[in-house]
Amino acid sequence: MIRKCLFPVAGYGTRFLPATKSMPKEMLPIVNKPLVQYGVEEAVAAGLENVTFVTGRGKRAIADHFDISYELEHQISGTSKEQYLVGIRNLINNVNFSYTRQNNMLGLGHAILTGEPLIGDEAFGVVLADDLCIAEDDGVMGQMVKLYNQFRCSIVAIEEVPTDEVHKYGVIAGEKMMDDLYKVTDMVEKPEAKDAPSNLAIIGRYILTPDIFDKIRNTPEGRNGEVQITDAILQQAKEGRVLAYKFKGRRFDCGSVDGFVEATNYCYENIYKAGN
Ligand code: UTP
Repeated sequence: MIRKCLFPVAGYGTRFLPATKSMPKEMLPIVNKPLVQYGVEEAVAAGLENVTFVTGRGKRAIADHFDISYELEHQISGTSKEQYLVGIRNLINNVNFSYTRQNNMLGLGHAILTGEPLIGDEAFGVVLADDLCIAEDDGVMGQMVKLYNQFRCSIVAIEEVPTDEVHKYGVIAGEKMMDDLYKVTDMVEKPEAKDAPSNLAIIGRYILTPDIFDKIRNTPEGRNGEVQITDAILQQAKEGRVLAYKFKGRRFDCGSVDGFVEATNYCYENIYKAGN
């Protein structure tokens, strides 16, 4: 059973400067809710009620968001505005949050390894909160947990992207096992279009088995001393132990301005307005 979900939130968010100069990218709101709250809600809906953040300098607002604000509670107590806090109160009361800090931003692989003491020797989910996923029934992490329970191996979520965008992603080669499910045979990080093995791009949802930590330790540093998670997962794939899942739902790359605006418009029309 998967119980834990890791949120690497230490990155600088340079694509969103100057907004992210002193504010975490993960706290950018999509309408009236920060990105990271959407991600935590998705994890909790999938049954992952132990949430670990790998934070860094300047990210304290995330821990504050998932804690009680007594002054605010006192201020709005008994007013109609209390309804705005129902969702976040529910998370605060039901989720077990833990935090660790990545001192040097040495890439996603390094961030995940930093979370090892809080994850331990069990399979876990990873959510990159700047990839906002909206699904109709089960959330994307929920869909992946069901697959994990069946196949018991690492799983990456994938999406078909236009060929001229493959250079932004980790891209897989795989053997199709069934509808929407591939056994990964190769992975290339940010390939040029001509070198890409497919247009199936990895997005910010993973389930990883705990041997990934040793694989990350064995992964040589790349550019700028960064450790790519794709290289570590590729080692598992070479052992035939990684699936790629074309999820049901929509993903918005909210780490980019275009994706952020698209997500805002979509959520305003389909979630916010529909609920008011
Ligand atoms: P990104 O590639 O989106 O990097 O990281 P970034 O720094 O957040 O944003 P840009 O590209 O500069 O605009 C993917 C995820 O990995 C985390 C980020 O917080 C994000 O959730 N990350 C990345 C870390 O936690 N530590 C790192 O060293 C790098």
